[in-house]
Amino acid sequence: MSQSNVWTHKGTFILAAVGSAVGLGNLWRFPYMIGENGGGAFILVYALTVLFVGIPILMAETLIGRSGRKSPILAMTELTKSHNTSPAWQVIGWMGALAALLILSFYSVIAGWSVHFGLVEFSGRLSGADAASIGAVFSGLLDNPLLLMLYHTIFMLASAVIVGLGIHKGLEKGLRILMPLLFVMLLMILAYGVVFGEIGQAASYLFSFKLSELSLQGWLAAMGQAFFSLSLGLGAIMAYGAYMPSRESISRSAITIAIADTGVAIIAGLAIFSLVFAAGQETAAGPGLMFVTLPIAFADIPFGSLFGGLFFILVFVAALSSSISLIEPVAAYLVERFSLSRMQAVGAMAFVAWLLGILTVLSFNLWAESSVFHALFGKSAFDSIDFLASNILLPLGGVLIALFAGWALTREEVQRELGTNPTWYSLWQISVRYVAPVAVLYIFIRGIGLVSGDIWPLIIALGFMLSFVGGRSLWLKNS
Ligand code: PHE
Repeated sequence: MSQSNVWTHKGTFILAAVGSAVGLGNLWRFPYMIGENGGGAFILVYALTVLFVGIPILMAETLIGRSGRKSPILAMTELTKSHNTSPAWQVIGWMGALAALLILSFYSVIAGWSVHFGLVEFSGRLSGADAASIGAVFSGLLDNPLLLMLYHTIFMLASAVIVGLGIHKGLEKGLRILMPLLFVMLLMILAYGVVFGEIGQAASYLFSFKLSELSLQGWLAAMGQAFFSLSLGLGAIMAYGAYMPSRESISRSAITIAIADTGVAIIAGLAIFSLVFAAGQETAAGPGLMFVTLPIAFADIPFGSLFGGLFFILVFVAALSSSISLIEPVAAYLVERFSLSRMQAVGAMAFVAWLLGILTVLSFNLWAESSVFHALFGKSAFDSIDFLASNILLPLGGVLIALFAGWALTREEVQRELGTNPTWYSLWQISVRYVAPVAVLYIFIRGIGLVSGDIWPLIIALGFMLSFVGGRSLWLKNS
C-alpha cells in the first residue's frame, strides 16, 4: 500500500468521519424526530443506542476498512479470501454501494433546499413575514421541479468536484476548510439562540422526560436515526478507514466521532428549539421543522434574516461534508477495478445518483399523489428510496459488518488494530458478536413489518443468533 493513499495529517480520519456523520441527519432529521417522539425520552434511547450499538459497529467498520486498505467492495473481497470465509460476505460491499447511491440521490435534493432557503433568508424577504407566507415559500419550492433540479444539480456538482480532486487535494483540503467553518457557524447559531431564544425551555424540553413517554416506537426510530446519523452500514466509514494511518487508535477515534456527532445533534436541537419556543411555534412539525417552523422563528427576531441565511449555509456545508463520503467508497472502487481516472469514476457515480435524484424531485410535485411507486409500495418514490436505503440496507449492512468483524477476523489482528486493552476488547467483542446483531435485527424485522407484534421479531432475532452461533462454521467457512 503506497503512502499516497494514506491521509497526510494525523487526525484527518476523525475530521473526515465527523464530516460524514454530521449532516442533514443532525440538523434536519434529529430535531424533528425529537419533536415527533417526545423530547428527552427519545434522546435517552438514542444515546444508549449510540453507546451500545453505534460505537462498536463504527469500530468494526473502521477496522475492516483499515485491514482491507481498499474500497469497501474490494476490501471485502480480499478479507473473505485471506480469512477463507464464504464469498457471500462480499455482499457487504455491494449492498453498501447500492445504499450509498440511493442515499446520495435524495440527500442531494434535500440539501439543495438549503440553497434556496439561504438565498431567500439573505434577501430579507422573510423578515416580518407571517407563517402562511413562509409556508408558501416552502410549498412553492416543492411545487417547482425545475427549481428543485437546479439546486440538486448545484449540490451534486459541488460534491463531485471535491471528491474528484482526490483524497489529498479534494477531501482532505476541503474538510480542513468545511469543518472549522461548520463548527464556528454552529456556535454562532447556538449563541444567537441563547441571546434571542428560550434556551432554558429548550434545554428542559430536551433533557427531561417522563418514563411513560418511552415508547417502543420511539426506540425504533432512535435506532434507525443512530445508524443514519453515524453514517453506519454502507461503507462510508470503511472507505475513510482505509486511508487511516496504522498507528492511530480506532477505539479512541470511534468514541470521539460518536461524541462529536451526538454533540452537534444536541447543540442543533438546543438552538432550533430555543428559537421555536421563542416564536411560540409547535415542536412537532415533522420534516418541515427546519424549512417552515424555523424560518417563522427567524422572521420575528433581530438579525433574523442574517442568521437564518447563515444557518442554511451551515446546513449546506454539513450536507456537503457528508455527501462526499457517499461518493468516495464507490468512486474508489471504480478507480481500482476499472482503472478509470478519479474524475471519470466520480463523474459516473455522481451522474447516476443525479439521475436517480429526479425520482425524488418528482415525488414532491408531479408524482406527489400517484406514481408507479405508489402503486407498488404505497408511498412516493422518495419515501420508497429512503425506506429501502435507511430501513433495509443500512441495518442489514450493519448486522453483517458486526458479525464479520466479530466472528471472521482473528483475535490478534483485531486487538492489534483496535489498540485497546483486553477488557475493552472483550466488551467490544460481546457487542459486535451478540448485542448489536440481535438489537439491530429486531429493529429491522419490526421496522419493515415482516411479522407483527413486539415479541415475534425478538424471537426471530434471537433464533437467528442461536443458529448463527451454533452453525457458525456453516455461516462463515468457505465450503
Ligand atoms: N450521517 C449523515 C447525516 O447525518 C448521512 C450519511 C449516511 C452520510 C450514511 C454517509 C453515509 O446527515
